Amino acid sequence: MINPYLKEHKEYPLAVIKRKAEKLKAEGKDVIDLTIGDPQEPTFPQAIQSIKQFMDAHPVSQYPLATGSYQYLIAVSNWAKSNYGIELEPITHVFSSNGSKEAIFLFPLVFDWSDGKEVWISSVSYPVYEASARTFSAPIRKLKVTKETGFFPDLAAISSQEWEKCRLFWLNSPHNPTSMIVNGEYIQDLLALAEKHDFIVCSDECYNELYEDERPACSLDFGDSDRWIAFRSLSKRSHMTGFRVGAVMSTNTEIMAYFRLCRSPIGVGTPTFNQVAGITAWNDENHVQISRKQYAAKRRVIRQSLESKGFDIYGGKHGFYFWLSHPQVQSSDELCDLFLNKNICVTPGTVFGEDGQGYIRIVYCIPRLECQKLCDRIAELEI
Ligand SMILES: Cc1ncc(COP(=O)(O)O)c(C=O)c1O
Repeated sequence: MINPYLKEHKEYPLAVIKRKAEKLKAEGKDVIDLTIGDPQEPTFPQAIQSIKQFMDAHPVSQYPLATGSYQYLIAVSNWAKSNYGIELEPITHVFSSNGSKEAIFLFPLVFDWSDGKEVWISSVSYPVYEASARTFSAPIRKLKVTKETGFFPDLAAISSQEWEKCRLFWLNSPHNPTSMIVNGEYIQDLLALAEKHDFIVCSDECYNELYEDERPACSLDFGDSDRWIAFRSLSKRSHMTGFRVGAVMSTNTEIMAYFRLCRSPIGVGTPTFNQVAGITAWNDENHVQISRKQYAAKRRVIRQSLESKGFDIYGGKHGFYFWLSHPQVQSSDELCDLFLNKNICVTPGTVFGEDGQGYIRIVYCIPRLECQKLCDRIAELEI
């Protein structure tokens, strides 16, 4: 009777570490929690200001439009035009989402899965892709990724016959958990394969604007293709995780129309006041520029401490994660315990798939002062 996926009760690797961290906290230890990518720096202040003004002016709170107000869609479309040079028609190419997670989770609902076509996911990836496919009983294929493949699937290693099985291909660059990126050529090749074998590239791009030197390539750079759907969010870019504001974009009007249709009865319309704050945030690039600099500064100091302890660091120039391994430590759990011994809680790589074994992810979207404390503790790691 119950969805078999929900019945599969597993103790998730993160739950084990979190329990250990809770025990330390209960003992009065000052634990630095580096497990969740939830920025602790202040939300963009003008966004907060605009929500206050809206609330004062609107004593009656009504249902939001399921796809976002016209003003919201225009703001997203203008942002896409001025930052990526792409023309998105506000009503047919864009709609609002509550952050990006719910839209990512719900997207497979658009398709019929009875023909055996598959959702393709990297073997180290954001767990929501798999959770969603399995909840909707969509067949999954895990594409092996390793440090040798740069933590992205090797497209050339997949045969034409295999590509025929793909319906959705999840691409996440900058990548959570590794913070690695693909270049424009990779995306172009993938889109050409999508055209040839009739599948959709689901591009999860919530970290695209958090870069150090140069903005990484993304689907919005490919306005001439309608084979992608982009999931964007203000959560990381504008430190607005609590607001739940994001946007889905694609020039594929057919897919967008069906996605809109399937979302409408679910009740995922973004609250109007959050859209108002969202408009303010999409319209401003200065605060994102400041965040980029702040993350770059944090990255530098934490990277130095980690390197001086002999860690191998992958990526680490985008988003706000470090993905690490250590030549003297084999398993993710051992690495987590090493940090926990100094009251630092980090995420085992196995949370992101079995191929994450031997790695950990640490977040650095923590306040500047906390970074120094972190570096002091890293210096004391017993390794
Ligand atoms: C890769 C990736 N995609 C999507 C999300 C969802 O974020 P939000 O729903 O806040 O936009 C996250 C959050 O951590 C993420 O890491």
